[in-house]
Amino acid sequence: MTDQAFVKVVLVTGGSSGIGEAICRRLAAEGHRVYGTGRKLDLQPVGYRMIPMDITNDESVEQGVQLVLEEAGRIDVVVNNAGMGIQGPAEDISPELALHVIDTNVMGAHRVCRAVLPGMRERGQGLVIHITSLAANYGLPFRGFYSASKAALERYAEAQRMELAPFGVHVVTLQPGEYRTGIAAARARPASIGPHYADTYDRVMRVLDGSLHYSRDPDEVAVKVSRLIHRSSPYGVHFAAHGVQRLSVVLKKVLPSRLFERLMMRHYR
Ligand SMILES: NC(=O)c1ccc[n+]([C@@H]2O[C@H](COP(=O)([O-])OP(=O)(O)OC[C@H]3O[C@@H](n4cnc5c(N)ncnc54)[C@H](OP(=O)(O)O)[C@@H]3O)[C@@H](O)[C@H]2O)c1
Repeated sequence: MTDQAFVKVVLVTGGSSGIGEAICRRLAAEGHRVYGTGRKLDLQPVGYRMIPMDITNDESVEQGVQLVLEEAGRIDVVVNNAGMGIQGPAEDISPELALHVIDTNVMGAHRVCRAVLPGMRERGQGLVIHITSLAANYGLPFRGFYSASKAALERYAEAQRMELAPFGVHVVTLQPGEYRTGIAAARARPASIGPHYADTYDRVMRVLDGSLHYSRDPDEVAVKVSRLIHRSSPYGVHFAAHGVQRLSVVLKKVLPSRLFERLMMRHYR
């Protein structure tokens, strides 16, 4: 029998594929009461429930959170995982497309927080895990708006952590490196790429999409989430990354920016 104090009610946005699905599966297998969300609901979840939610829509988020609160009575942990990628030279990306990515990756998490936090504050406990990215630490060439959205979410979380600490609500970020999910195939792209960028862009994207790191199992991220939800006082920023990817965060902190950027472009050669 599962210890009732151990069991958490967990809401995972973007539970329909990739990292979110791995988190839902692992936490459900561990005995937690898990609700995954998504726009696509064709998945057959085992041990957890999928509910409809579009994080770019206020009403849809409120309805999804309300459904969990009515059924489970509380939300102990929210994992703001739903997100999307974008690729293309910044100059070729329309403001509308960039805003769509920021609306999903930043405002989506904000909408979910606005719906979930009142309950957590009233109960004087809760954990918010924002899935950001290593890309939050530096501008990735031809994925600038992705880096910008994840950096924005990191800073949002940092401020939120200080605001919510007096209420017993913890806020952490988890920065994954590259994992084998649907994110690369689903990246938003501009309608056309200017000929002046074409050579470098094609080369960078070939190296990126061929990256061996994209073969890593997203369950590694789920293991990190599982550990986080049982920490009584988790520290703020966590990583799920290996080797050169993890090292890149350290190098970004210690190297002069010109040298770091040269190394970055050499990696993509
Ligand atoms: N895979 C990686 O290498 C990697 C690295 C660093 C960070 N991340 C981050 O990890 C998170 C999960 O990505 P993933 O790699 O697992 O990608 P994925 O397989 O493409 O999954 C993305 C998830 O987000 C959901 N989603 C997207 N837009 C949504 C919207 N408007 N409303 C509701 N749900 C939405 C999708 O669900 P529906 O389509 O059903 O709505 C899907 O479940 C993202 O925040 C991503 O930035 C991934």
